[in-house]
Amino acid sequence: MTGFVSFVGSGPGDPELLTLKAVDRLQRADAVLFDDLSAGPILEHARAGADLIGVGKRAGRASPRQDHVSRLLVDYAKIDQRVVRLKSGDSGMFGRLEEELTALREAGIPYEIIPGIPSAVAAAAAIGIPLTRRNTARRVQFATGHDVTGKLPGDVNLVALADPMASTAIFMGKRTFPELLEKLLAHGLPADTPAILAEDVSRPEQKITRATVSVLAEKLAQEVGSSAGLILYGPLAEEGDGFEPNQ
Ligand SMILES: C[S@@+](CC[C@H](N)C(=O)[O-])C[C@H]1O[C@@H](n2cnc3c(N)ncnc32)[C@H](O)[C@@H]1O
Repeated sequence: MTGFVSFVGSGPGDPELLTLKAVDRLQRADAVLFDDLSAGPILEHARAGADLIGVGKRAGRASPRQDHVSRLLVDYAKIDQRVVRLKSGDSGMFGRLEEELTALREAGIPYEIIPGIPSAVAAAAAIGIPLTRRNTARRVQFATGHDVTGKLPGDVNLVALADPMASTAIFMGKRTFPELLEKLLAHGLPADTPAILAEDVSRPEQKITRATVSVLAEKLAQEVGSSAGLILYGPLAEEGDGFEPNQ
């Protein structure tokens, strides 16, 4: 069997943020299985004639089941195809990579993982701010705002997420942020902690909104929209210290 799967992190959306290895694997793939957030101009790097298969599962929309995606990977590899599994940002971050790796290991199919730029890292760059601060944010934490059912995870570490000395990035958290914030305030996070909502980072429709955590939660309680968004809060989101947004 010569089938092989490359898990490729596609970065936040701007094709110029793909790695050289990502482009190489796309150009050599017989089949590309991609998520919604990896679609668009990134797919233009795929070889003409390659099978392009959308397997997106954005919140709130019908999508193929995870075991179906794993099955497809195994089936393509078993007929000796070179497969690229394209996931947004870095494949290993909140991308359900473990289920797909398990399926390949069980089927004895070789694979590699090509890292990509995580959207939270791209967001800080797009805003023009450092993720860490020498004196005020020595720790960065990435957390998910929803579990497989779309709800706020019941075991979220509220003490860590309420730490005012950390930079925090919440992925997939627009819907649940009002509920999360209520719990964080009860754990001591100040209501006027600076926050940034970074939407569609690195794409033409990118939008950066500065607020406090409480103002942001109020806005999101009224309207979440359909864009991919990250909530950044803590010292990294402070204004007036020389780190102003790029736009
Ligand atoms: C399934 S997770 C995948 C995360 C991805 N593996 C990463 O490293 O960024 C999808 C979430 O990532 C965030 N995300 C991905 N791309 C984004 C972008 N271009 N702008 C803002 N947020 C993005 C959003 O929170 C979105 O709901």
